[in-house]
Amino acid sequence: MTGSHWKDLFRAWSVLPRPVAVPPEAIAAIKAEVRGVRGPILLLGLTRQLMDTSDDLVAIDRSVEMVLNRAGAVRTVAGDWTALPFAPASFAGCIGDGSLISFAFPDRLRSVLSEVARCLIPGGRFACRVFLRPDPTPGLGDLLSIARSGGMTFQHFKFKFAMAMAAEAGSPNIAVAALPELLAARLPGRDELAAQTGWDLAEIETIDVYRSSDATYCFPTRAELTSLLPRAFTAHRFVPVANHPLGQEWPVLVLDR
Ligand SMILES: C[S@@+](CC[C@H](N)C(=O)[O-])C[C@H]1O[C@@H](n2cnc3c(N)ncnc32)[C@H](O)[C@@H]1O
Repeated sequence: MTGSHWKDLFRAWSVLPRPVAVPPEAIAAIKAEVRGVRGPILLLGLTRQLMDTSDDLVAIDRSVEMVLNRAGAVRTVAGDWTALPFAPASFAGCIGDGSLISFAFPDRLRSVLSEVARCLIPGGRFACRVFLRPDPTPGLGDLLSIARSGGMTFQHFKFKFAMAMAAEAGSPNIAVAALPELLAARLPGRDELAAQTGWDLAEIETIDVYRSSDATYCFPTRAELTSLLPRAFTAHRFVPVANHPLGQEWPVLVLDR
């Protein structure tokens, strides 16, 4: 996957009337899990709000352009999370927000988690918010009823729609570029969708950024994700994000090395 999917998406979000931001509740939940960690922390990605988690933090992302843009705030490194450019046991903690979303189940997802395990010291901790797919997965009809009653933002719907489409196809993985076509086929009238849900049309249109994406999104169920955790992790738990409407479904995965 190239970095352009993320760059285009972050740009589209930032110019909305109500820019999309990482929920502060999620940031607080991730930070809380590494509060007791003593030693260097690795951040998977460039989530600004996580950069002050520790004075001793390195952020890594494979987009050289994005890494250069953020350089200065903290130490940033360009590199691939499936081949981390660090010696074994270099970090006491590793964090991220949604960082695993574009790693296809099972092999790429397993490989990034194995790399994290390799780079953590024994006793080290991984804490990352994950977008789990409920089992059973609500279908489009269920999602629309919630959305029409005002119970879901478009950003949440976008992921839930992707989960519903992945589940219909019988896989945790879905090609991001397929999503605008699927939405057009299943819900052709965007104006009508906006009117029924109260969503801003400009926000609905952010899904068009997906058209040129070569990313695959992965939405494992809790059982699927648990099934591929590397043995190097001795314990795992899913910590709900407090005060967030999807805090139970999209919890912080905490792994102890
Ligand atoms: C998966 S996420 C979300 C992580 C985090 N919330 C953030 O905003 O950085 C998007 C980021 O992951 C990076 N990324 C995706 N696959 C990667 C890989 N194999 N190695 C390193 N970075 C990767 C993208 O370049 C992008 O900046």
